[in-house]
Parts: sequence; C-alpha cells; structure tokens
Amino acid sequence: MGCAAQCVGAGSCSRRFFLVMFRTCLPAVVCLLGGMTVQANTPVPAAGDAARGKAVYAQCLGCHSPDRHRTGPKHCGLIGRKSGTASGYEYSKAMQQANVVWSAQTLDHFLFAPLSFIPGTKMGVAGIKNAKSRRDLIAYLIVINEQPGCD
Ligand code: HEC
Repeated sequence: MGCAAQCVGAGSCSRRFFLVMFRTCLPAVVCLLGGMTVQANTPVPAAGDAARGKAVYAQCLGCHSPDRHRTGPKHCGLIGRKSGTASGYEYSKAMQQANVVWSAQTLDHFLFAPLSFIPGTKMGVAGIKNAKSRRDLIAYLIVINEQPGCD
C-alpha cells in the first residue's frame, strides 16, 4: 500500500476531527518524507569510463588480447560467456568448472581477487583493488565485447 493511501479519508474530516485527521495523516507524511530521503540517498552505480579503462587494460595486454588467444583467452565476446568456454583455448579445470557467467558483476568479483574468486585458476595475478579502476576496466571490456567481427 502506498503512502498516500494512509491518508485516504482525511479530506472528509471536519475541523472537529482535526486531531483524528492529524493522527491519520502524520504517518503518511512521515512515510512520504522517508521515501524521498531513501531515494536521495540510494547510490546509483556510476558507469565506468571506458577511455580510462583502456589504460587499465594495459595490465592485461601482457597475457590477453581482445581478439585472439595468447597466454590468456581472448576477451572479445566475454560478456555473457560462461567461464572457461571460449573455443580453442585450453583453460584450467578450475575455470571450466567454475560455472560463472561473465557480467559486470562477476567480473568485478573476479578482477578484485582472481585466485579467491576462482581458486585454482591459472590467471596468476593479484587483482585490481581499486573499485573505480575495476569499473573503468569493465566498461572497456564491454566495449571490446561488442566490437564488430567478434565470434
Ligand atoms: C599473467 C598473465 C595474465 C594477466 C596479466 C591477466 N590474465 Fe586474465 N587470464 C590469464 C589466464 C592464463 C587465463 C585462463 C585462466 C584459467 O584457465 O584458469 C585468464 C582468464 C581470464 C578471464 C576468464 C576468461 C574466460 O574466457 O573465461 C578473464 C575475464 C580475464 N582473464 C581477465 C583479465 C583482465 C581483465 C586482466 C587485466 C586486469 C587479466 N585477465 C590479466 C592470464 C592473465
């Protein structure tokens, strides 16, 4: 039931019943104000900056390339792909069995601490601890994901 519904009937209150009306309406007003406060304080996840993410991706280029397998698998087509399933790349058992589908959220967990998120992965990097850098990087991975010519 919405906030306003709590005040239904208040309009029919006469002055004699002002106190009753006040009692009836007060929770509705508090509810509305509360609702507004919650709305204002709810953090909206800011989209990452892909241009900055490209610079962060320099750390990945030692092993990865957007469009071909190297030490690590290609990143083209990553978003929505199940972990360990790009054809033609030999993954660790851990990555194949992880049962993770790559999304902004799972990438955020993985890139924070690859070895904790997927114990036994052969991606032996410490991870990116800065949340903003990860967000920017993921924005860039989404750009790579959508680039034309990706199978
Ligand atoms: C030292 C080499 C190395 C570096 C640096 C590296 N990776 Fe990897 N990455 C790998 C290897 C090897 C795998 C395959 C892991 C496995 O099979 O367990 C992998 C796997 C992945 C996967 C899973 C892909 C899939 O198809 O399931 C993602 C996502 C990934 N890397 C992202 C990154 C990002 C982003 C960076 C840069 C921050 C990065 N990696 C840096 C070696 C590396």
